Amino acid sequence: MSYATSDHWNRVFAERKEAGNDLDWGTQWTKVHIPVLRSANVQTVLDLGCGTGNDVLRLAREGFAVMGMDFSESAVRQGREKAEKLGLSAQFVVADMAKRLPFDSATFDAVMSNVAMHMFSDKITRELFKEIRRIVRPNGVFVFDVNSTEDALIRAERRPAIREIEPNYVLRT
Ligand SMILES: C[S@@+](CC[C@H](N)C(=O)[O-])C[C@H]1O[C@@H](n2cnc3c(N)ncnc32)[C@H](O)[C@@H]1O
Repeated sequence: MSYATSDHWNRVFAERKEAGNDLDWGTQWTKVHIPVLRSANVQTVLDLGCGTGNDVLRLAREGFAVMGMDFSESAVRQGREKAEKLGLSAQFVVADMAKRLPFDSATFDAVMSNVAMHMFSDKITRELFKEIRRIVRPNGVFVFDVNSTEDALIRAERRPAIREIEPNYVLRT
């Protein structure tokens, strides 16, 4: 496999939970995305690579019908627990976005993805974009944040690259 496994992410989320250190960027992404979703009359949203569901719950609070998808069972479990505790209606599914997305064509008004789509080879990324196009309805919306290739030097200071798998796609410690 050319990308980090669900076992890796399960460990990350289990360790964070143990340390009381939930992965959450606050409203950093959704404050930009929500006005775009509203202006396009979006009601149904899929959050790809939703982690522990904090953005899923932010959108649910704003009245969107949201589904979070992640391949980490640990993250999805935490998302479901938070939704239940907060009494918010949100759905979650465990699935790998590097494979065919488990939805019919034109299922969602919008797809959102925050800091989760920059971890794949060029081939997988292109396939994923095609899949997103398939599952979003015509004239729907796709909003996302990804790391920039210009972040590479900053990231390298914290986690050195072990090797470059392909241009701008590196394996880190
Ligand atoms: C940096 S976290 C971001 C989580 C969340 N979007 C947020 O903003 O807090 C990246 C997320 O992508 C998920 N992820 C990575 N590769 C994936 C894959 N192949 N399929 C589904 N989810 C994946 C990880 O499990 C993790 O939850």
